[in-house]
Formats: sequence, C-alpha cells, structure tokens
Amino acid sequence: MKPVSNGFEKKILVTGGAGFIGSNFVLHALAKGDNTVVNLDNLTYAGNPMSLEPARHNPRHIFIKGDIADRELVRAILEEHQPWAVVNFAAESHVDRSISSPESFLTTNVLGTLHLLEQIRDYWRQIPEKAGARFRFLHVSTDEVYGSLGHEDEPFHEKTPYDPRSPYSASKAASDHLVNAFRHTYGLPSIITNCSNNYGPRQFPEKLIPLLILNGLEGKPLPIYGNGSNVRDWLYVNDHCAALHLLMEQAEPGENYNLGGACEKTNMEVAEAVCAMMDDLCLQSPYRPHKSLLTFVKDRPGHDQRYAINISKINRAFGWKPKETFETGLEKTIKWYLENSSWIDSVKTGKYRDWISQHYGWK
Ligand code: NAD
Ligand code: DAU
Repeated sequence: MKPVSNGFEKKILVTGGAGFIGSNFVLHALAKGDNTVVNLDNLTYAGNPMSLEPARHNPRHIFIKGDIADRELVRAILEEHQPWAVVNFAAESHVDRSISSPESFLTTNVLGTLHLLEQIRDYWRQIPEKAGARFRFLHVSTDEVYGSLGHEDEPFHEKTPYDPRSPYSASKAASDHLVNAFRHTYGLPSIITNCSNNYGPRQFPEKLIPLLILNGLEGKPLPIYGNGSNVRDWLYVNDHCAALHLLMEQAEPGENYNLGGACEKTNMEVAEAVCAMMDDLCLQSPYRPHKSLLTFVKDRPGHDQRYAINISKINRAFGWKPKETFETGLEKTIKWYLENSSWIDSVKTGKYRDWISQHYGWK
C-alpha cells in the first residue's frame, strides 16, 4: 500500500451509509461541511440510495457499492481516499430476521467486521505517525449486547457485562469484542458506541415505528408482540448522528460510550403515541382513530423485556444530550413519512432497486 502523502485532508469513510442511521449520518456530516464522505454500502434490502437523494449532486459525497468483507475493495478505497476516520454502520440489523435466518448476521456483523478491521489496521499502520495518532475507527453498536433488564434494574452503563440473547445481539457483541481485540492487540485507535432504539426519517418499515406509521396510513393492523409491555429506550436519529460526529472528532481511542434518549416506553405506549399523533396529522384519514387498528400478535421468541441506558458518561465528557423529546421527534418522523410518499412507495414496491439501475447503472 502506498503511504499517505497529502497531509491528511478531511475525508471520512462511512460504511453502511445507505441504511437508516448511516444515511442520516452521511447527510449530517455533509451538512457540517468539513468532511468529504466516502460511503461504502453493498445495498442489501435495507440499503436505499433514495435515502441519499439530498446528497446526490454533492461533490463531497462519494458512493461506492461494495461489501465491507471485500478485502481488495476496502484496501483500494483506503489507499485512494486516505480517510482520517472510519465510521462503521454496515450490519444486518433486524432482530426478527436474525431469529428466522441467523447466518447473514454472522457473515456481515462478525466476519465482515473482521475483514474490515484487518484492512483498516494495515492502512493505519503505514500512515505517518502524526496521521496515525489522529486516526479513529468508530464502531456503531447496540445496547442489545447487554441483554435484558427487569423492571427494577439499573440502566445499562459502559461496564455492564455483555449478555446477548438473540442471534443479532450475539453477532453485534462478537463484533464489539473484535474491535476491542484489535485495540488491545494491534493498538488500533477505536471507539465503540452502544445505542438504544433509533427512530426518525428513512427507517426501513420492518422496524416498529415506521411499520406502525405505514400500516396506519393504509388501515392495516398495527402488530404488537405479546402483551405490549416490553420496554425500549428511544432516541431520535439526528441526536444519535450528532453524538457520533462528536465522538468521531473528540473521543479518545479505547473508550466506549452508551447513547440513548433517556426515554423509556412500553411498546404499547409507543404505539398509542404514534396512533394519537397520526390522528392529529391525518385529519382526513378514514382510519381514525388509528388506535382501533392495534392488534396483539404472537410474541417474538426470546423477546428481551427491557432496555434502558445510562448516558451520563458522554454527557459528563462532552455535554451531549438528546435535543428532541419523544413528542417532537415523533412529530418530525411522521411528518417526514407523510411528505415522502415516493420514498415509501419505492420501498413498498421494491422499486428503489429499479431506481438504482436507472440512476446509477448498477445491477
Ligand atoms: P440498516 O439495516 O437500516 O442499514 C444497514 C446498512 O448496512 C444498509 O444500507 C446495508 O445495505 C448495509 N450493509 C449490510 N451489510 C453490508 C455489508 N456486508 N457491506 C456493506 N454494507 C452493508 O441498519 P441501521 O438501523 O441503520 O443500523 C446501523 C448500525 O447501527 C448497525 O450496526 C446497527 O447494529 C446499529 N444500531 C442500530 C440501532 C437502531 O435502532 N436502528 C440502534 C443501535 C445501533
Ligand atoms: O436497541 C437497539 C436496537 O433497536 C438495534 O440494535 C436494532 O438494530 C434495532 O432493530 C432495534 O431492535 P428492536 O428489536 O428493539 O427493534 P424493533 O423495531 O424490531 O422492535 C421494537 C420493539 O417493538 C420490540 O420490543 C419488538 C416490538 N415489535 C416490533 C415489531 C417489528 C412489535 O411489538 N411489533 C412489531 O411488528
């Protein structure tokens, strides 16, 4: 690999930047205006280039279709673009899919992360000392690695032992362990974040909140697993992106940070809030009150009861806390889906795949 020689211009590599959080992060980073963003994503069902439409003509956004596990490709990208940071979102992310079909979770989240780490380690080892000291690998992970809490338990903190309980969380835990192993064994300057449930624009409608919104718009049943008493902590995606950007720029290597909304809700509370907000925002809907669409369905196997997260470490270190409340974030989210029916249609019909070949010439 040829050595870095250009004084390390402000370029970052984002992996998985066509997915939900990744696309919001790419747009956030571009709006900040100080980095060129190289975006590597292999466009699984969850990757949607339409989510990157606002960046389509931005010369500071370079999209590359490819797999994090493709060593040659990753090596070539690092060599050509010489990023000062890599932010890794690329993953299989849906718990239910991991239950019915775990293998792709191991392939991408574990092996893919390993291959990515190897290339990044080799790149980082040969850049000049000053650039190497500044380099960061930020690995975006989940609070699910900590397992499940009882109602009276203290929220997860950064030293809570890992206890993953689904194939998804087991694969993410393994990826976190690999990142830590590369830090301890090779000195790779990495940071890990473990975040709670995100919601906001551009989320694939297999996840609870966009599923409720899209089904609600069509008068379809709103499925609630079990009795709806499971608890999640909810963070608006732009607040997550702001935290990640901050940590990419300012955190010390070797640190891990818990991120969350300090906003615990049962699934029933979430569903009722979505229904009430849709009643207010869709006055002409024949499906008001949307609450009447709520339908209890069979529970998820091994369904974790409660996640809750202590965010005091990042708050103390950097003053970060969420800007949005659940109410303001949910209103922004529902309005975004109402105003972006072409994005919704493309996802529902799978037409975004045609859009990819039409607009980018990719298969
Ligand atoms: P997502 O499923 O919406 O997006 C994942 C993206 O990664 C897609 O664009 C997909 O095409 C891409 N991808 C998958 N495999 C790839 C591979 N092998 N090579 C290159 N690209 C690949 O996921 P998300 O909800 O945006 O989550 C992003 C990350 O954040 C994941 O690592 C997830 O574990 C983590 N996370 C998500 C949440 C949440 O609530 N969604 C919360 C905490 C942490
Ligand atoms: O906690 C962070 C995690 O949050 C991320 O790491 C995952 O990538 C992300 O998918 C999310 O996992 P969850 O399993 O919590 O998200 P999901 O939206 O699938 O489900 C949220 C809760 O709602 C969960 O308790 C299951 C329940 N649920 C979900 C669906 C899809 C329902 O009751 N009905 C549904 O139809």
